[in-house]
Amino acid sequence: METTIDFTQIKIKDLVTENFHTAELFEKLGIDFCCNGDRILKTALDEKNISNSKFLSEFEKFKNSSLIEYQKYSEWDLDFLTQYIIENHHKYVKNAIPNISNHLQKVFEAHGEKHSFIVNVQKIFFEVAEELSHHMMKEERILFPIIKYLADSQKLREKPKTRGYVTVQNPIRQMEAEHVSAGNALENIRRLTNNYTLPEDSCATFQITYKELEEFEKDLHKHVHLENNILFPKAIKLEERLIKGIYD
Ligand SMILES: [Fe+2]
Repeated sequence: METTIDFTQIKIKDLVTENFHTAELFEKLGIDFCCNGDRILKTALDEKNISNSKFLSEFEKFKNSSLIEYQKYSEWDLDFLTQYIIENHHKYVKNAIPNISNHLQKVFEAHGEKHSFIVNVQKIFFEVAEELSHHMMKEERILFPIIKYLADSQKLREKPKTRGYVTVQNPIRQMEAEHVSAGNALENIRRLTNNYTLPEDSCATFQITYKELEEFEKDLHKHVHLENNILFPKAIKLEERLIKGIYD
């Protein structure tokens, strides 16, 4: 069945929330679907000079791909979603950081003199790795337990007690700001490497490092999408309802 999309009403994040695999399409088109997912589709397409019909034909291809495994993250329990994020995204980042750092060091030693941008890539990656490590720790130790507490309050049909954070919106705003910062850092790396275009004299380690960095960026986009567009708005809504004594 052919899809009808209201280009002037629908937001990018709505399409991605409905089916995460459309994220690949937005990545391919160079459209930010996580930190800037609130934008109307038409606005984002106009910026990239992409017509509605061109977008629709690409969209159909993605939607109909037999490889698409359909996951409705938006239907999951909040607690389950936080566990999913920890198990899939936080674990991935923790493993990827030492690998990429090692490979970047090797690339720097072999090619740093000739390709001076590598030292800057290394510096930005080091900073974003530090930032993300703290970010994930704050989510795991502060924000996610608050969300679990809210989910438990709903199950027990109890009003949540006021805590030091006042409202879940406060830690959420902080996490969103950190997502923007990490997204910008990866964007800078993409720019410095000319969209991960390998120099002619690149070696296998160079190629692997670029692949790993691209994968790291992709994973960040998904992590940010799941939180900014699904987990956070649902947690805010849940808190508001619980405070009003609505438990269903
Ligand atoms: Fe996050």
